[in-house]
Order: sequence, then structure tokens, then C-alpha cells
Amino acid sequence: MQKIPTISFNDLKDRNSDVLEFLTKTLENNGFFIINDHSIDTKLIEKVFSVAEDIFDLPYETKYKYHIKGSNGARGYTPYGIETALNEKVADQKEFWHQGSTTNNTLLPNLYMEEVKDFEVLDTLYSQFETMGSEVLKAFSNFDIEYNADLVDSAVDGNSILRLIHYPAAEGGNEQRARAHSDVNLITLLIGGNAAGLEAQDKQGNWVECSCNVGEIICNIGDMLQIMSNEKLTSTPHRVISKGNENKARYSIPFFLHPRPEIILNKEGDLTAEKFLDKRVRDIKLK
Ligand SMILES: [Fe+2]
Repeated sequence: MQKIPTISFNDLKDRNSDVLEFLTKTLENNGFFIINDHSIDTKLIEKVFSVAEDIFDLPYETKYKYHIKGSNGARGYTPYGIETALNEKVADQKEFWHQGSTTNNTLLPNLYMEEVKDFEVLDTLYSQFETMGSEVLKAFSNFDIEYNADLVDSAVDGNSILRLIHYPAAEGGNEQRARAHSDVNLITLLIGGNAAGLEAQDKQGNWVECSCNVGEIICNIGDMLQIMSNEKLTSTPHRVISKGNENKARYSIPFFLHPRPEIILNKEGDLTAEKFLDKRVRDIKLK
């Protein structure tokens, strides 16, 4: 099976022209790549994984106190079996926690679990991901591509989400942990090194292995960036399959970098990030 390319974060930050040219070509076919030498504190990552286990180990009633009805899953806890990939009927086998911006007070405030020690590390990781995401967008803004908005500015104090996901040990041999879907946001940054199972589909329809090592981050293009780049950058369908390890729980921590809600995504000027996101949360049954 093919693999996705690995790029050094230092080359991205330095805007290395060979790397940027290679990356532009790659991302037109498959919008996934791996970043090594990144700036996220590895001790912090370990801590957040341990906080994630503490959260999902809590009794359902405790977790459910942090489920806000009518918030479309934007903050706090969303139970197992609600989110359903676009055009799918069977809900994904996962429960998750959403932590958002602490700097944009026009957005919904975060919830804090009093039962879990060191919960505030989620905000620290959010902030480090936001900084890293901004560097990736700066590199992308050097591509020979016309964007419909100022890419880097669009995500300053954006409506981003740090998501902690728990895929429980599967029962009944259901292989698909997260069914094929594309991400709605600008870019997704995903901590590597956890259990195998993530695959992306290139334009020829091949499923490409995306798992990476500890210390690496997987980056992929979302639908909003595909629209903002006038379809030059590809938002790639991906899925999580259990790869024979379905009897073990899987934890995953993606960061979804979003623009501010008022940012206009398309050339015609009639599609804001807020409008696009609202439609998607309805489509995936979070609303
Ligand atoms: Fe995804």
C-alpha cells in the first residue's frame, strides 16, 4: 500500500521552495501529509492522552452532565453513536470531547470537567496547535494558488476545535470505526503514534495508509480550504478501520483549524464559514 509523504516543519516554516513545490503537487492528488520536527510539546501530548483516558473512563452520567443539548456538539461531551458520516446511515463508533477557542469571546465558551485533574492542558494544546496551524497556512499561502480570502488572517481567533475521541473496543466485528468522510474545516492536524487504522483515498480511488510515528503530526486539507483555494487543494475522503485491533480501545486527538465564522470562502462571495459549517452539522446529525 502507498504511503503519504513526510515534510519537516522547519522546511515549512522556512518556506523551502523545493518542498513547497513538491507539496503543492502532492496535495492536488491526495490532501494528506506527515509533519515531523514539529513544535508541539511531546510531554504535553502525553498528558492530554492521559486526560482523555480519564474523561472517557468516567461514568456515563458524569460525562453526560457536560453534554449541552442544542449546542450541536460544538463544546463539551458528545456521546457514542450520534455523529454519522455524510451520506451514511450507521453512526460512528465513537464518543468525543470538544474544546474551542479561549481568545474569541464571540464564540461559545468552553466547559471544564471538575472531575478530571489537569483539565486545563486541553487549552494549552489548543493554543500550540493554533500556532502550528498558522505556520502551515503561511506555507500554503506561498503556493502558486489564488485564494478567496487571506488564508493566514482567516484563522486568527478562528472557530477551531480540539477534539478528543474515544473509539471503544468494537463488538460484533464492525470494521469501520469512522466511515469515509472529508473534514469540513481548513486543515486538520492529528497527533500520530496511536493505533493504526487511518486511510485516505487518492483521486484514483486507492486507499493510502496514513498512520505515522510518535512525534509526528498528520496534516490534511478540509472542505473549506478546498473551496477557498478554488478546488486546487484537495479535501480527501478518509476513514478509520479497525485493522484487526477492534478489541482494543483507540484514542485520537485531532485539531480542526477553522476560520472565523464570518470569513467568506467562495469566489462568488455568498458562502461564509458559518453557513457552510451549519449545513454540515445538520448533515452529520449533530444538529
Ligand atoms: Fe476526519
